[in-house]
Amino acid sequence: MRKPTLLIHGGAWAMPDADIAAHENGISNALDAGWAVLERGGSAVDAVQAAITVMEDDEAFDAGRGSYLTRDGRVQLDALMMDGKSLNAGGVGCVERIKNPIQLARLVLDESPHVYFVGTGAERFAMQHGMRPCDNMDLVIPREQKRLYDAQAAGLGDTTFTGAPMAGPLDSHDTVGATALDADGNLASGTSTGGTLDKLPGRVGDSSLIGCGCYADNESAATSLTGWGEPIMKLVLGKWAVDRVAAGATPQQAAEAAIAHLHKRLGGHGGIIVMGPDGSLGLAHNTPRMAWGIASEGRREIGITRN
Ligand code: GLY
Repeated sequence: MRKPTLLIHGGAWAMPDADIAAHENGISNALDAGWAVLERGGSAVDAVQAAITVMEDDEAFDAGRGSYLTRDGRVQLDALMMDGKSLNAGGVGCVERIKNPIQLARLVLDESPHVYFVGTGAERFAMQHGMRPCDNMDLVIPREQKRLYDAQAAGLGDTTFTGAPMAGPLDSHDTVGATALDADGNLASGTSTGGTLDKLPGRVGDSSLIGCGCYADNESAATSLTGWGEPIMKLVLGKWAVDRVAAGATPQQAAEAAIAHLHKRLGGHGGIIVMGPDGSLGLAHNTPRMAWGIASEGRREIGITRN
């Protein structure tokens, strides 16, 4: 029997001082929800789902309600969940009427022979399986309308067609994620995001793509990433990191190596959590701050680390 362990993150970016308390509070609530599942003998996938659902419901994070807005002022959400025992995965991209996309990802994992649904097809799958749709405006909050307005007034959008990043890579990445190990020795991971500020409608980032922003395999490790999605996708960085663990690196060594590789190869910025099959942990980021939490028996830690 393994020692159940939960490691979650609430984004890696240039988090202003004024946002720290809200992030700590959100991480604390998510940690409690996920740990409650593991503590009563629940599965790693259930713990991941519980923790991420809390962060999606918390407007402090770029996931669920309160996410960054697309260029046309809407919320479009991406999420992935992966089960390290079976390698079953469920992913959704560009959903606009789902309050908790991680729950839809779980539904895909459990109920579909397919792995990934996007847009209206994903929403139809949700409704066919009993999920109630919301209105997109239920996910949009005034803080984000102002943020988008200010960014567009500052000319942020003008850079899109030049190939330059739409948002400064440090400004806007508080994607959420979780990794868990349950008492049966199974790993799971999940990642959920509203993506980047002022993204073009239809853009999908790294978070919901297998091996990019999320991966779990009992034979290597579980991981969830946050940060500037395009470089992470190009490097398939989640799989890159867990392969290092399979090759003998500790999760901490793999996490540090992944972030170093991200920056050296493509100038990318972000953060990563990694959990090994024995519950050993790794976390690294090259952004100014990263929010995280750890729970296991007799251990409960919350942090906003600084570079
Ligand atoms: N990492 C979140 C995104 O780029 O969409």
